[in-house]
Amino acid sequence: MNGTKIRWGILGCGRIARKFASDLLLVTDAELIAAASRNKETLTLFAKDFPCKHLHNSYEELVANEAVDVIYIATPHSHHHEHTLLCLDHNKAVLCEKAFAINSRQAREMVDTARQKKVFLMEALWTKFLPHYKKLQELLQQEVLGELKSVLVNFGFKTSGNSPQRLLDPSLGGGTLLDIGIYNVFITTSVLGKPDYIEAMMTAASTGVDEQIAVLFKYNNGAMAQLFSSFVTNLPIEAEINGTEGCITLTSRFYEPSSTIQLSKQIPYEREIIPVERESGLGYQYEIRHVNQCLNKGLTESPVMTHADTLLLMELLDTIRMKAGIKYPADLS
Ligand SMILES: NC(=O)c1ccc[n+]([C@@H]2O[C@H](COP(=O)([O-])OP(=O)(O)OC[C@H]3O[C@@H](n4cnc5c(N)ncnc54)[C@H](OP(=O)(O)O)[C@@H]3O)[C@@H](O)[C@H]2O)c1
Repeated sequence: MNGTKIRWGILGCGRIARKFASDLLLVTDAELIAAASRNKETLTLFAKDFPCKHLHNSYEELVANEAVDVIYIATPHSHHHEHTLLCLDHNKAVLCEKAFAINSRQAREMVDTARQKKVFLMEALWTKFLPHYKKLQELLQQEVLGELKSVLVNFGFKTSGNSPQRLLDPSLGGGTLLDIGIYNVFITTSVLGKPDYIEAMMTAASTGVDEQIAVLFKYNNGAMAQLFSSFVTNLPIEAEINGTEGCITLTSRFYEPSSTIQLSKQIPYEREIIPVERESGLGYQYEIRHVNQCLNKGLTESPVMTHADTLLLMELLDTIRMKAGIKYPADLS
């Protein structure tokens, strides 16, 4: 690191890369210095909106750029394994988009490589860094809901001609589970922990990937969770956490920054809208600041989004896929 600003490079200049780049501008100790795209025109358009010193026509060129401290991987899930290993091979710190990989075998290899090389690697599960998520954790620690009994969570939107092609393409890790269902699994396990039993059923799109999936978690302590994701209907993207004393609702859209949390207590019945302070911006700046802090401290693993968190998430996604019958080409290699 150069001691002042952390110098970021972006690998892949698609939709999320643009959102991330706009929030990077909000972080005072971060500088976007490089971007790489396989496509010249995409790169030119990206650089017009987000000027940076180094423009690379290949990912290989970006990872070889000595001026770059950390690389944000913004390619489809199917390519996270390959692109993370490419960065780590060049000793570049990595913030890799979710889903971290296609399966837990790939994820373990990525984590093992980062550990062997002593290079920073974190999954970009941005929700974990948002103020309303932190507030939720605080409330749960205060046991405001009593004994936790259930989580009910939905995430659905209707895809259209404008949606990224990757969403339904099996070779790019398409399907709802890895794209949006992952947030359902994340929020549920953040609240209830690792489930003891999992059931799952899906309906397939014409490409074979899940266009809808229903997942059930059951816990030995009596808690349950119901997780549903869809690419064929718009759903309220809400998470409801129920306990013996009340309910917390993370209102739509629960995975994005929110300025409120809704708390309903049962006896006496009262509903409270708890304000949460949030900055302007899309919300990616929180994870960016966290990565900067980790790098400034010389850490190779985030203490917030740990490697164990990522591996657990990937293992749960594997189990859900196995139960629902979702397979990807990468599972065979
Ligand atoms: N955290 C969030 O809020 C959030 C939101 C949306 C998406 N995501 C995640 O970010 C990742 C990218 O999603 P996106 O919506 O940005 O996708 P996208 O718009 O399709 O962009 C993906 C980019 O990856 C690059 N790429 C490299 N190999 C590719 C291939 N074989 N096929 C297609 N693209 C390829 C391309 O960039 P170049 O042509 O420039 O090389 C492409 O523009 C996914 O893993 C997704 O889950 C996260």
